[in-house]
Amino acid sequence: MASKLSFASVQNFPVPIGKFLEFHRKIPLSLHPPLNSDSKYDSGKSFTSSRGMSLAINVVKQELLQSPSSESTRSSENTPSSSSKFVLVVGGSGGVGQLVVASLLNRKIKSRLLLRDPEKATTLFGEQDEEILQVCRGDTRNPEDLDPSIFKGVTHVICCTGTTAFPSKRWDGDNTPERVDWEGVRNLVSSLPSSVKRVVLVSSIGVTKSSELPWSIMNLFGVLKYKKMGEEFLRESGLPFTIIRPGRLTDGPYTSYDLNTLLKATAGQRRAVLIGQGDKLVGEASRIVVAEACIQALDIEFTEGNVYEINSVEGDGPGTDPEKWEELFRASQTQ
Ligand SMILES: NC(=O)c1ccc[n+]([C@@H]2O[C@H](COP(=O)([O-])OP(=O)(O)OC[C@H]3O[C@@H](n4cnc5c(N)ncnc54)[C@H](OP(=O)(O)O)[C@@H]3O)[C@@H](O)[C@H]2O)c1
Repeated sequence: MASKLSFASVQNFPVPIGKFLEFHRKIPLSLHPPLNSDSKYDSGKSFTSSRGMSLAINVVKQELLQSPSSESTRSSENTPSSSSKFVLVVGGSGGVGQLVVASLLNRKIKSRLLLRDPEKATTLFGEQDEEILQVCRGDTRNPEDLDPSIFKGVTHVICCTGTTAFPSKRWDGDNTPERVDWEGVRNLVSSLPSSVKRVVLVSSIGVTKSSELPWSIMNLFGVLKYKKMGEEFLRESGLPFTIIRPGRLTDGPYTSYDLNTLLKATAGQRRAVLIGQGDKLVGEASRIVVAEACIQALDIEFTEGNVYEINSVEGDGPGTDPEKWEELFRASQTQ
């Protein structure tokens, strides 16, 4: 799947490839299987990436460099994690997910990935130290894949799973919006321990308006309906949650073959961020910005129990500055 990714708009974020290679060569990767996983992925086994990195991470690196005040740029590449967070990323091989993982890596925040194909992690993130990145095999559609061992020690969860809104190859094996955005999210949420401090779910703008044009077109196969069901299940779970609803995603890999991504993505440096509430925002959101919003929300207390829509527009943005993000989230709640 990774080889099918298209990086159409990445040319807007040129970063010397040498710098990027250097960043990725440093960290060995180990795979930590759930108890019921395939023995192919033995605990502690290290893999060497065949391709070494993805351009998606390249984009993150650039974004982080543009925010010198950020936690990530202050941290040294050789220092161990100073964060007490241990973040489970579900959907870490996807467009937003890759950016979330890359950004956590850059911040030295320990994470564990739940992937249908753990080898994708090696391809995408290179060799990583198991102290900083672990990988488990699992398909959220299968409750039996969601073994408690996957959640052991996890303090925060970011779920950015998804599939295409319209029938595509990515529906193969019944990986439809109903199975992924509803059943998968339900299974995941049901499996999470109550000790988790925050669950961030990436949903979509328009979920509350799925019967209105133009949302009804996007919802022809139920994607908005099922995302809303996933959202509601999380809200009612009693777990501390934040829901991030992006607009049409731009930047990074275009892994979706739906109507949205058939439209030509708008080029340009859309780093300015608009955050709203009440499902009123209409527009686009850079995957870079969405990934950063997920990570920032983990640390902003008042985002707990809230739902935010997010767009990005041209202009200077908050980068990775926690204070600016806090301001943006707060402003959306007072509008
Ligand atoms: N495209 C848009 O314009 C748009 C707009 C608003 C919201 N969104 C939502 O934003 C989120 C991120 O979008 P994106 O385009 O960055 O995502 P993406 O590239 O489509 O990635 C989806 C991720 O979900 C994983 N996944 C799919 N089915 C799974 C399953 N059954 N079990 C476990 N993992 C599974 C994929 O893993 P594999 O590598 O195994 O396939 C991949 O890591 C999604 O929820 C999407 O629906 C998208």
